[in-house]
Amino acid sequence: MDYTVENGHLIWDGCDTVELAKEYGTPLYVFSQTMIEERLQELQRDFVDKYENVRVAYASKAFSTLAMMKIIEKQGFCLEVLSDGELHTAIQAGFPAEKIEINGNNKSLAEVEMAIEHGVGRIIVDSLHEVDLISSLAQEKGKTIQVLFRITPEVNVATHSFISTGQKDSKFGIPINEEILFPLVKKAIQAKGIEFLGFHFHVGSQLFENEAHLGAVDIALDLMKEVRTRFDYAVSELNFGGGYGVQYTDKDVRQPYSYFLDPMMERVLNFCEREGFTQPAVVIEPGRSIVAEAGISLHTIGAIKELPEIRKYVSIDGGMTDNIRPGLYDAEYTGILANKADQAPIETVTVSGKACESTDILVKDLKLPAVESGDIFATFSTGAYGYSMASNYNKLAIPAVVLVKEGQSNLIVKRQSLEQMIENEVLPDYLK
Ligand code: LLP
Repeated sequence: MDYTVENGHLIWDGCDTVELAKEYGTPLYVFSQTMIEERLQELQRDFVDKYENVRVAYASKAFSTLAMMKIIEKQGFCLEVLSDGELHTAIQAGFPAEKIEINGNNKSLAEVEMAIEHGVGRIIVDSLHEVDLISSLAQEKGKTIQVLFRITPEVNVATHSFISTGQKDSKFGIPINEEILFPLVKKAIQAKGIEFLGFHFHVGSQLFENEAHLGAVDIALDLMKEVRTRFDYAVSELNFGGGYGVQYTDKDVRQPYSYFLDPMMERVLNFCEREGFTQPAVVIEPGRSIVAEAGISLHTIGAIKELPEIRKYVSIDGGMTDNIRPGLYDAEYTGILANKADQAPIETVTVSGKACESTDILVKDLKLPAVESGDIFATFSTGAYGYSMASNYNKLAIPAVVLVKEGQSNLIVKRQSLEQMIENEVLPDYLK
């Protein structure tokens, strides 16, 4: 992991993490704005500036906060949202609606209405009834909505099955089936209030190989041709989703964006030249790869329990409630003692959380310097799907989030208070 140490303390984007833990308390998520911006610049340089008519829509599910939306907006990128809550966050952050696209395999009527009212740029249709719904709502409001169809490309990916989405048996996407897809495309082309742009897919997440993406690109390109042949209609946009892998531990080697995107674009450009198409707009939706490695979590170590010849548990003041990924996907993480960052590891411990759940183990068999109660444990690469999947299990509070840049820190999400945790609860009179 890439970090610096000063006076024995872990430094994150110029900030002393031990001081951050003191100032803001733990558990704490700390995001380096510089690292986020570096990823955005890589995308700008190796995709947006390199190819014609391409866009990046940050998948906000990875980390959706007002401050994050602003960072994305400043870069000039678009945004992908999945729910009314993510859309609301984006709108509240002042994100231009026309640069937002909404996904979701079960958008509610209210969500579609909200999207249309705000004038979102794209609705990605993911279920059969949506075409009629969008068409009638758009007509009511006198608007034309640009839509893509999310297809199920039927490719299998090398990742945890829980985060693979493009296989045949998936709740996501419209099956590429003669009786289902093409009649729906025809309907969308003809429907009032709808402009049909093209196809979308997302094959899975945390990918290090490009086969699945390339297979799906070929399928989307074939569909483009089918639509021209059958309906004499030009597909003008393709969306290839996200999924680019990041480094959680030394076992992972992150590929640069160009590793994925250059071969994908090559296929598109070759196909268009060969088949006589104008290049459609190409959109990608990276989430994890933009924020995961920029974020770390800080926890204070409390109870230490040694089971002779079995293992030593060191417990932190959070766990699966602020990072469900180890419990949910067997995801592996690594970390260090932020206050002993210059000390050599001398013991092997298991870092456990405080939730009442046996799977609440953050890191198994990690080598650390001599651990003492009160030490600050920093987990790396928790920026994506950490805060965004946090829960109140055991009525543990959602931690605060701090954004750091070149030695400056700013609170971007306050720690949830005990009062806030029960503010929506109502005691019926008869129980009082
Ligand atoms: N676009 C669509 C339509 C998606 O479904 C997803 C992720 C993305 C983009 C962004 O994918 P990314 O670049 O972040 O891999 N909670 C899981 C990840 C679930 C991702 C679901 N969809 C995890 O913590 O690994």
